[in-house]
Amino acid sequence: MATAGRDIGSVELTDSELWLDGPPHETFKEMRSGCPIHWTESFELFPEEPGFWSVTTADDIHTVSRDWHTYSSERGGVLVAAAGFPLELAQAMFIGMDPPKHDRLKALFQAGFTPKRIAAHEDAIRAIAIRVLDRLEGRQTCDLVGDVAQPVVARVIGSFMGIEEQDDAIWAKLMNSTLGAADPDLNPDGFEGAVEKDVPEIFERCRKLIAERQEHPTDDLTGVLVHAEIDGEKLEEHEIVMGFFLLMAAGNDSTKATYCSGMRALMENPDQLQLLLDDPSLIGSAVEESLRMFPAFAHFRRTATCDTELHGQKIKEGEKVVMWYASSNRDETRFQDPDRFDVRRTTEHQAFGAGGRHFCLGTALARLELRILFEETLKRYPKIELAGKPAFVESLFINQLKTLPVRLSP
Ligand code: HEM
Repeated sequence: MATAGRDIGSVELTDSELWLDGPPHETFKEMRSGCPIHWTESFELFPEEPGFWSVTTADDIHTVSRDWHTYSSERGGVLVAAAGFPLELAQAMFIGMDPPKHDRLKALFQAGFTPKRIAAHEDAIRAIAIRVLDRLEGRQTCDLVGDVAQPVVARVIGSFMGIEEQDDAIWAKLMNSTLGAADPDLNPDGFEGAVEKDVPEIFERCRKLIAERQEHPTDDLTGVLVHAEIDGEKLEEHEIVMGFFLLMAAGNDSTKATYCSGMRALMENPDQLQLLLDDPSLIGSAVEESLRMFPAFAHFRRTATCDTELHGQKIKEGEKVVMWYASSNRDETRFQDPDRFDVRRTTEHQAFGAGGRHFCLGTALARLELRILFEETLKRYPKIELAGKPAFVESLFINQLKTLPVRLSP
């Protein structure tokens, strides 16, 4: 897309033309240098939504992320647009809460997500990945999104949540059609369909899981939510359901996105792929580089709680402030040659957030899943190559491929 000479200040970041091939990296680059705190006035998909501030540099995102007093997750939700989802539901997830309630709820899960506790799942996760790859036996080609990434991540998070394996596909479909509601391939009924059909079905199915656990306590994460007590009080049903929704959404969409985009980058950069084949100990840094270049979530959002100023820009109380990790992870003041995929790079990125209260709970699990997926895929298919044009999910939020056709062995 020709960009020379345009006034970056007047660009509307929600213009769908900009997002056809994933996040608009050229536009973000212009914003970082010319208008790092940028205002988008109107919203293409949701004309009734107010405009928003875009925060595009790593330093500014670091500031916003760590100052929950000024930049609230609770006041207006954590996505650039509410898209018809009631604020009350967003606020029932701890990602949509401010301290102190946020901290108390998150603490219930933190012990189970430490690197040490997560490492204990390595064999089980590897067995899942191997089983899914075994199903490709005899095939020349496949879709890495639907045939590998989706079933692996669905079973991993499904086993954490206590879901039966036969229900993985239906849960994956429900999560995809809710989070991917802007994409007609993922949800032909759009946001309305997600709010009127998919979310109620998620609630209905989740109520069954809750009832089972009230009857017979379990030690899965759904059980943790059902039996959680904050200040001596149990969570309300909609809080349990939305806590479940948060973990399912984070577990289903995130690693899938980064694995597929990382594999694509390896296939498009055979020299980098060769480095990993020659020295598999580089897979850890290849995972980090994939997270940096392809953060699974392009943004999270806050709402200003008071009039304030960021990087010289005045922001008014109540205005939306959106942190674009898809931009900050390519900030040239932090990363040399930021658009180059370099599996040996080790600079710290912001794919999991930039610290602060809402820093990703699932970092250890995501890193482990990604390492295992890369290891097992490359071990089995070292000559894997692209077999068609990958397509991005249409979304300002989930930075994800919906298809990635590959030839497994030439
Ligand atoms: C590639 C993998 C992943 C990426 C890039 C990622 C990214 C993020 C980011 C950027 C946030 C911050 C949200 C904010 O600031 O408002 C976040 C929060 C969160 N993530 Fe992840 N995530 C990943 C995997 C996972 C997994 C596997 C889980 C667990 C099942 C998970 C669970 C969560 C939860 C529960 C939160 C909310 C934390 C809070 O509000 O305190 N994430 N994630």
